[in-house]
Amino acid sequence: MQIRIIDQGSGILADILDRIHEPFFTTKEQGTGLGMPVSCQIVEEHKGKVNILSSMHGTCVEVNLPALT
Ligand SMILES: Nc1ncnc2c1ncn2[C@@H]1O[C@H](COP(=O)(O)OP(=O)(O)OP(=O)(O)O)[C@@H](O)[C@H]1O
Ligand SMILES: [Mg+2]
Repeated sequence: MQIRIIDQGSGILADILDRIHEPFFTTKEQGTGLGMPVSCQIVEEHKGKVNILSSMHGTCVEVNLPALT
């Protein structure tokens, strides 16, 4: 199963993308920096994978989860 979450924001620069899984890394004044690492950890614990595709026109986060057997 694949879920895609798409936004039309300003995208994620490469240096931020490199650190996006780092706990407590944030560029927001009020951010915790836990949104992505915790979400990715939950997906990985379900044997899934997260791919982030980003450009200056927005971001697409793909969540791939294996079928239940
Ligand atoms: N969809 C997005 N578009 C642009 N930048 C993003 C996006 N998602 C994450 N980021 C960047 O990655 C950083 C880390 O994201 P993460 O979700 O881990 O924490 P956060 O969003 O800063 O804090 P919180 O999860 O508490 O709101 C963000 O601060 C932001 O710079
Ligand atoms: Mg977040």
